[in-house]
This record gives sequence, structure tokens and C-alpha cells, in this order.
Amino acid sequence: MFKTVEWTKAGVVMIDQRVLPDKEVYRTYKDYKAVAGAIKDMVVRGAPAIGVAAAFGVAIGALKIKTKDAKAFRKELGIISSLLASTRPTAVNLFWGIERMRRVVDSNPGSTVAQLQKLLVDEAILIHQEDIAICRKIGSNGAGLLKDNSTALTHCNAGALATAGYGTALGVIRGAIEAGKKIQVFADETRPFLQGARLTAWELNKDGIDVTLITDNMAGWMMKKGLIHSVVVGADRIAANGDTANKIGTYSVAVLARENNIPFYVAAPLSTIDLKMKHGDLIPIEERASSEVTHIKGKRIAPEGIKVRNPAFDVTPAKFVTAIITEKGVVRAPYLKGLKGLFAAQPSSCSCL
Ligand code: MRU
Repeated sequence: MFKTVEWTKAGVVMIDQRVLPDKEVYRTYKDYKAVAGAIKDMVVRGAPAIGVAAAFGVAIGALKIKTKDAKAFRKELGIISSLLASTRPTAVNLFWGIERMRRVVDSNPGSTVAQLQKLLVDEAILIHQEDIAICRKIGSNGAGLLKDNSTALTHCNAGALATAGYGTALGVIRGAIEAGKKIQVFADETRPFLQGARLTAWELNKDGIDVTLITDNMAGWMMKKGLIHSVVVGADRIAANGDTANKIGTYSVAVLARENNIPFYVAAPLSTIDLKMKHGDLIPIEERASSEVTHIKGKRIAPEGIKVRNPAFDVTPAKFVTAIITEKGVVRAPYLKGLKGLFAAQPSSCSCL
């Protein structure tokens, strides 16, 4: 099985998701600037995976700091964290990962630089390990929602490639299959970056899970024909009221699901829930390069000079979400109360940079 992102003696190793499925290439990043570049350029992508990568970035940056003075160390760590935090704006897991690393330093005021460096590496490795366990829990919590002998549509890639392993939305599908159910997956190709065609189709195929690829504009018709029984997607940021930011196109799928009486599930870890965002309109939406729209695999498909928009995410209003599946359980409307309740026995959620 492939590893999405990993801490090794040589550096932070990532599978290069830009070249999948053509090539399975692993790249090693030896400093925090290179890790930040990998996040920005989508070598690693998917909310939980970029949270893990950012934590590894902080750790590798911390190891390279030369000073023995704890105050100067903290200052340099702040610069490292700011750069990593500037890479992508929408997925809150990025800020959550960096914040978790900052707390390690804050809660060890008397430690030497060497001690802090070790603590930071340990914390990043723990974040990575925990993410796999969390995804498995999301999978088992959501497995019961999918019926035996049914189909599930997913959008983008919320699988092992988008997490430290197993996945969130694909974790629910894997959980249902592991529980003995027969599930057939439909994967939206997910223009413009093609996470569905390139990544979801690749990882499910590799796992021997029945997957059928469709283009994004086919989902509505497939639903109307009764071929889709549920929708399961991941999330990049969930506001306190349940509004959910996820890959562009998710909103359209949710509206279509409602029109066709199909349950629409969001699967995400608590690190994706941002209680400080009261509603989805406050979530920053990343706008990416126009070349992602005008080109496919480096080949121009649109006229030179054409005006382009490329919002990478959209926000699905909570009213379209049947349930949110987390590692702490399944939450249904009213989300404000339910989501807050998940944190009752938890340390406070991300205080974003
Ligand atoms: O731009 P990407 O590929 O990072 O966007 C990823 C998504 O939108 C995923 O659906 C989301 O991060 C959930 S991943 C478990």
C-alpha cells in the first residue's frame, strides 16, 4: 500500500499526487520551505493530509534551527509556521496542525531547544498516527449509513491520499465494505484538478473496490435514474452551523441529491470543524491558477486569453447535509448544538493563525 506522507530519517516523504495515476513517484523534502512548496503545489493535498504535512514541516523546520536560545528558537518557529500557514487558505486542518505544534512549545516553557525539537518531532509523528486511527473510526461510525448492495457517489478525493491513510469519505465506504456490505462507488472526475479521475479511481482500483468514473455533469442524471443511493464527501472546513466547504462542485451534488431524495453525508475529523466560523460565508475560498481550467495535462483546451474563474472550493449549506460523520459519532441537524457537543470532552478546537 502506498504512503501519502511520512516522516523518515531522510526527510518528509510524499507521494507526488500531481503525477498520479501515470507515475507513482515519492519525493523527499528536507526543509520547511520545500514542504510549504509541496503543499502549495498540491504534491500533497486533501485537508487532513495537509494538516499532517504542515506539522511535519514545522518539525523539520525546528530541527534546522541553529540557535540554542529558547526565545530566539520560538521566534524562528513563528516564521516557519507563518510560511506554512500561507500555503492554502480553505482547509482548516492546515492551521489546526500548525497550532497543535505551537501548543507543544507553549506548554513546555522551561525546555531547552534540543528538548523542544524532540517534542515537536514526536508531536508531528503522533498527529500522523492519530489521523489514520481517526479515519478508521470515521469509517466504522459511518459504515451503518450505507446499505448493503447499494451505490455511493463521491466527489474529489477524500481517501487515503487525502489523509495519513484510509480516508474520510472513502473511509466510510471502506468501513461499510469491511462490515461485509457490497458497495459500488461512483467517482465524479472533479474538474479542474481531476482528483476523482486521477486519485479516487486510482486508490479504489488499487484496493479492489468497485469504482465507476463519471464526469461531473453526469451525476444529476445518474441520480434521476435511481443509480445513486447515497453521496459521501469529505470536507475542508465545517462551520459551527454545519455549512461545509469542500471541493468545488460539492454544492451542486448536494442540491441534486436533495432534489432526488438521496442522503448526502459529510465525513470529516474534528480537526476539520471550525467552531469559530459561525457560518459558511465566512470561510475563505482559495482561487487557483487559471491554467488549471484552460489546460489539461499541460495541453491548452480553451482559447488563448479567455477570462477564467477557478474557485477551488464551494460551501454546501447545512440544510443539504443529511449527517456529518466524525470519529466521535454521527451528527445530524441542528448542527450548532451537535457539533459543539463533539468538543465537550475535547481540548478546544483550532485557534487559527
Ligand atoms: O484541493 P484539494 O485536492 O486539497 O481538495 C480536497 C478536498 O476538497 C477534499 O474533499 C477534502 O479535503 C476532504 S479530504 C479527506
